[in-house]
Amino acid sequence: VVSRHEDVSAVLKDYKSFSSARNEVTGDRGSVSQPPMPFKALIPEELDPPEFTPYKRALTGMLSPARVSEELLPRLDHWIDYFIDQVIEKGECDLVYDLTSPVAGAIALEWLGMPRDDWQRISKAYHDIVGYPLEDERAQAALRDLGWIDERIAEEVAIRQREIADGRPRNDVISALLQEEIDGAPMAVDRVESMARILIAGGVDTSTSTVTSALVHLHHHRDHRAALIADPELWTTAADEFVRRYPAVLAHARTVVRDVEVGGCVMKPGERILASEASACWDEAEFPDADRVILDRVPNRHVGFGLGIHRCPGMHLARETIRHLTKRILERMPDYEVDEASLVRYAKQSTVSGWVTARATFTPGPRVLPQDQTR
Ligand code: HEM
Repeated sequence: VVSRHEDVSAVLKDYKSFSSARNEVTGDRGSVSQPPMPFKALIPEELDPPEFTPYKRALTGMLSPARVSEELLPRLDHWIDYFIDQVIEKGECDLVYDLTSPVAGAIALEWLGMPRDDWQRISKAYHDIVGYPLEDERAQAALRDLGWIDERIAEEVAIRQREIADGRPRNDVISALLQEEIDGAPMAVDRVESMARILIAGGVDTSTSTVTSALVHLHHHRDHRAALIADPELWTTAADEFVRRYPAVLAHARTVVRDVEVGGCVMKPGERILASEASACWDEAEFPDADRVILDRVPNRHVGFGLGIHRCPGMHLARETIRHLTKRILERMPDYEVDEASLVRYAKQSTVSGWVTARATFTPGPRVLPQDQTR
């Protein structure tokens, strides 16, 4: 396990020594988790250059800061008010199931092109599969739903293929991926399906976890809540500080593919290593007072979004989701109180971590969107 900030950074940057691809050691199991998990391949995360490069380029373009600001922010603000409206008159809600998970799901799934009727079931499945122990009925239901999600993605991809063949492509990510060229040929359909899967798996529950952690933190630290309400400019640095202090993703695995030394430790081809982004984020050598949330922490070279070629392409969207959703909850539910007895940690800390559920009460307020505006 690689744990120091300096060493984790060195490993994540050195893709020539530390491979993310499936190989004879991992078999047909996921190569960036340890132990390798029986999941379908995630493209581009489980590829090395040169094969990796054109897939990643496509994603980086679609999730650039400019595209996020122009295309996704208006939808993000809409969905935030829409889901707050569903609970605001009641004065109570579950922050995860009513707000953070539906908002993170809506923004990613609408952008992708998945139909509205599927969103709740998809976001819930990705949350419950990591949130509860495998023997729990909720995790079992989520496991069944992951199979259903694969079928739904395949059906939607097939619909988009027909529309493109008929010369009437839609303006969504599945359609855009189908029209991407990889080495002079259209992207293969199984690769499009895999990219859709990683955009859901990588994008939905990570943002859910981070915003929930921020809200629970602001329940415990009223001074921070007051500071963010008084000075919204603090959000410029605060979002990254929440990612650093409450990393949604704890670690990623790699396979050593050539002789290499990290932090004085000699590693040999075929060995598996786990690079802990979370441990690096809490390294006192890099972050003075690492346990404390410092809302205006600068510099903040955290690795909560990874580093090197596999660094998270969704980080601009994630930052905006953390900022806009938390800020709006503070505006519309400024006195929310978390019911601490309802706080349950994710059962498995090896993948996504955080709070599975977090019930809250607050002074009821008015809706802001017209009642009939459901989309
Ligand atoms: C707070 C929210 C998020 C966190 C903490 C997070 C964290 C990460 C980390 C640590 C990696 C690196 C994985 C590795 O090195 O193997 C990663 C990769 C990735 N993330 Fe995120 N992520 C977040 C949100 C998102 C969003 C919103 C999207 C998409 C809309 C997204 C899509 C991806 C994809 C596709 C990859 C694979 C990139 C590659 O292999 O080059 N993530 N993420």
